[in-house]
Amino acid sequence: WAPFHITCFFLTLGSDFPRVDCVATGLPDPEVTWSLPDGTLINNALQSDDSGLRNRRYVIFGNGTLLLQQMGKRDEGDYTCYAKNKLGKDERKVSVKVGPNAPKIRLKSQSLVTVKLGGSAKLSCQATGEPTPRIMWISPRNDVISVSSDKFQIMDDGTLVVKKVILADEGKYACVARNSAGDDEPFINGMKGMSTTRVMAVSYQTALLDCKVEGKPEPRVWWVTPYGHSLPTPYLGGRFQVHRNGSLELRGVRKTDEGRYKCLAKNNLGESSLLVELDVASIAEKPSFAVPNIEILPIKQDGEAIILECPARGKPNPEFTWVLPNGTMLTPGVRLQRFTHHLGNGNLQISQPVASDKGVYRCLAKNVAGQAEKRYALEAGRKPLIRGSTGMFFISN
Ligand SMILES: *[C@@H]1O[C@H](CO)[C@@H](O)[C@H](O)[C@H]1NC(C)=O
Ligand SMILES: *[C@@H]1O[C@H](CO)[C@@H](O)[C@H](O)[C@H]1NC(C)=O
Ligand SMILES: *[C@@H]1O[C@H](CO)[C@@H](O)[C@H](O)[C@H]1NC(C)=O
Repeated sequence: WAPFHITCFFLTLGSDFPRVDCVATGLPDPEVTWSLPDGTLINNALQSDDSGLRNRRYVIFGNGTLLLQQMGKRDEGDYTCYAKNKLGKDERKVSVKVGPNAPKIRLKSQSLVTVKLGGSAKLSCQATGEPTPRIMWISPRNDVISVSSDKFQIMDDGTLVVKKVILADEGKYACVARNSAGDDEPFINGMKGMSTTRVMAVSYQTALLDCKVEGKPEPRVWWVTPYGHSLPTPYLGGRFQVHRNGSLELRGVRKTDEGRYKCLAKNNLGESSLLVELDVASIAEKPSFAVPNIEILPIKQDGEAIILECPARGKPNPEFTWVLPNGTMLTPGVRLQRFTHHLGNGNLQISQPVASDKGVYRCLAKNVAGQAEKRYALEAGRKPLIRGSTGMFFISN
């Protein structure tokens, strides 16, 4: 009894969405992982539901089947299926070649059909190809015939029915078979459909919003700004420029450039869009102090509190931390016995100071750009003392 067995087979015929099945049997149920030609690993344990299925290029079902959506030439390569459970593991490699198969119309190139006036004519057109071609009919007046109307009907097998034939219906009808071999709807940055991203730019600098589009026939690509302006590819504006590769470049960005930028890509097979939320941050500045970084203060034991300030400037506003002489840190709003680090202004208050409070107090001011430090050295104050002998002085002149 083999605890484990895998068979893989690849299905493409007659399907727009090829599937690679990896039937792994085992007890307990094996976990199936697929390795794609580009090295990406997809696991069935992580992707058991089918939500968002339509937006993903690759989907793996609970049973291990890998669904390849919208396969194109770039999806060719080796697909490896790994299955494992507690008892063992197994793997199978499947080489996938994508060979588009242009449509072929069976039957000879022209045929003559004779009908009675008032009757109906059936013109058949059978085509083979992979994916299955779609049949389109062109009328003698060079119009594309719609699937169903008072006059015409196109059956599922491609047969054109001309109803209640009159003399004016006489002429040449052309059958066109077309499939999407090698065609692909647009992908933006590797994604199909609608996607969203966020970009943080720094003011007065250059921001680059990427919109890399793939698709066949080559999609039309354009950007729409938050103010509703449409910018084609390529586009050369003042501060705004759209490069040939689809990237939108904004030079010297400012706060007013913030908003939603949309990149759209469209061909006859579909449309994809990318929404970029642009945030503009003002330039960050490291905290700094205007006054000397170290000050020496006496401790006056008159019952009045000592307030140590931490007047640092910076962009964005710095956050403060006080470090007491013994290394204890006080974050904003924290109070430790007689020591309070006030919220908001960065002040450290020492209530009813005593001589033993002496030492070096450090305020650390920090923001994204860096850190600065201010120190206060508190020295135990002494009562004023007059040197010299006491006694009486006689002053004579
Ligand atoms: C696996 O599941 C998918 C989706 O439910 C199904 O289409 C496919 O046929 C299954 N494959 C096998 C081998 O059972
Ligand atoms: C697109 O082109 C611009 C200008 O040549 C370049 O700076 C940018 O890096 C390119 N973007 C991508 C995604 O290749
Ligand atoms: C540090 O000093 C503070 C204030 O005097 C005191 O509350 C705290 O317990 C001291 N911490 C340590 C670790 O000595």
